Amino acid sequence: MSPYTIFIIDDEETIRDSLSLILEPDYIVHTFANGSKALEEISHTTPDLILLDIGLPDISGIDLLKKIKKNQPDVPVIMITAYEDIETVIAAMKCGAYDYLVKPLNNDNLELAMGNALETVKLRKEVKILQQKFLEDNLPCFIGDSDVIQDMLDFVKTVAKSPDTPILILGETGTGKELIASSIHYRSPNFKGNFVTVNCAAIPTDLIESEIFGYDKGAFSGANPLGKKGLIEEAINGTLFLDEIGDLSLDAQAKLLRFIETGEFYRIGGSKKHHVQTRVVSATNKNLDQMIEKELFRKDLYFRIGVIKIEIPSLNKRRSDILPIANFFLHKFNEKFSKNIICFSDQAENALTDHNWTGNVRELKNIIERGVLVADNTKLSPRDMGIAEASASEPDIDQTCTENLPPPGLALSPDGLDLAGFQDSIEQFYINEAFKLAKGNESKAAKFLGMNHHTYRYKRKKFTL
Ligand SMILES: Nc1ncnc2c1ncn2[C@@H]1O[C@H](COP(=O)(O)OP(=O)(O)O)[C@@H](O)[C@H]1O
Ligand SMILES: [Mg+2]
Repeated sequence: MSPYTIFIIDDEETIRDSLSLILEPDYIVHTFANGSKALEEISHTTPDLILLDIGLPDISGIDLLKKIKKNQPDVPVIMITAYEDIETVIAAMKCGAYDYLVKPLNNDNLELAMGNALETVKLRKEVKILQQKFLEDNLPCFIGDSDVIQDMLDFVKTVAKSPDTPILILGETGTGKELIASSIHYRSPNFKGNFVTVNCAAIPTDLIESEIFGYDKGAFSGANPLGKKGLIEEAINGTLFLDEIGDLSLDAQAKLLRFIETGEFYRIGGSKKHHVQTRVVSATNKNLDQMIEKELFRKDLYFRIGVIKIEIPSLNKRRSDILPIANFFLHKFNEKFSKNIICFSDQAENALTDHNWTGNVRELKNIIERGVLVADNTKLSPRDMGIAEASASEPDIDQTCTENLPPPGLALSPDGLDLAGFQDSIEQFYINEAFKLAKGNESKAAKFLGMNHHTYRYKRKKFTL
């Protein structure tokens, strides 16, 4: 570990020199003769420890301590006082000083106080590293190679940075709305708080308000006599995820709107105003525009929860993601069930890319879990997964394209021939035809042309089809 950096702030030159002499062999030492110079340095560098004289010429040590704590709350400050003035020492400790030393400084006391403070610094650093590692290891993994998903994930990273901007996630069931919500939480400054999910469709209408906002004692018969905290309070400085928000009653919608606008709410039956900072992320598979027209959803709430909107496309609309996601789950369930399945059979790959995924990724996950569990081969077959084989891997003759054939070959004349342009137009034509024939399934289209999937995608993009 690199040596610790110590700032010494004292107007007495002899103290600065003698402390430097003692500490320089083991630490990086910077000395300051007055408060303003030290403060300026502290505004852009973070020392590991500060030794601060209480009696400075330009600013009182206590005032400087307050400013340091505001700027660098985690840096321990050991106060140095000329005589044991108990009141000043108590004031310093109340303002967050770590310890104090009385002049003339005694080596043993200095070593002990600094040793304790630096141990705290070391532990804090270790906890931070572990926390970072834990986050990296547990960051929700949203698989998807398609451009639309890659763009969406970039957007998620950007919008996650705000601690309180409301976000609305839209998408069919099973597209990964909850996964994206938790991804937002763990990438946001709120990651140390809780990620609290409220499934608005699963909680009975008459209980939802008390679940979200909590209740005070005597709020209703049968309630806990001591009252109960609501889920909002569990999500302090974290994220409140309102899943299936389209199922929220109009009454609850009104209360929620007030909370999102002001950060304030009352528990049911309570008269005390509570204030909570949290980020609200909502999700629904319902068409909120239609619900607003039918007056089932408040328009003002819709605007408020949807300051940022993220729309997850259905799996059928991004078929190139099917196999990467399938492989991710194959690996996951292989480990879970201690199996040794290496890959999908060709028929299985075709069946997966062909299937109509009405249940989206959730359905894909379930099918693979079942497949891995029952398979007795190293290759997973459509039968293992309980799905139909793809209708035909080769196109029917009447399905093939005979219309819109490319222009016939041009004769080479002394005027020359744009061979490259001609080759491009042929390639573009067949790439387009294969796409139509494969009904938008890129991997299938690539197979029709005997092309690698990635090359096919690259070319399709190149021709901006
Ligand atoms: N792109 C993805 N990559 C990995 N797992 C996914 C992906 N999308 C969804 N899942 C998984 O599929 C299941 C359903 O996702 P979920 O977030 O609950 O969907 P929704 O809330 O939209 O109904 C979960 O187990 C989730 O982890
Ligand atoms: Mg869900």
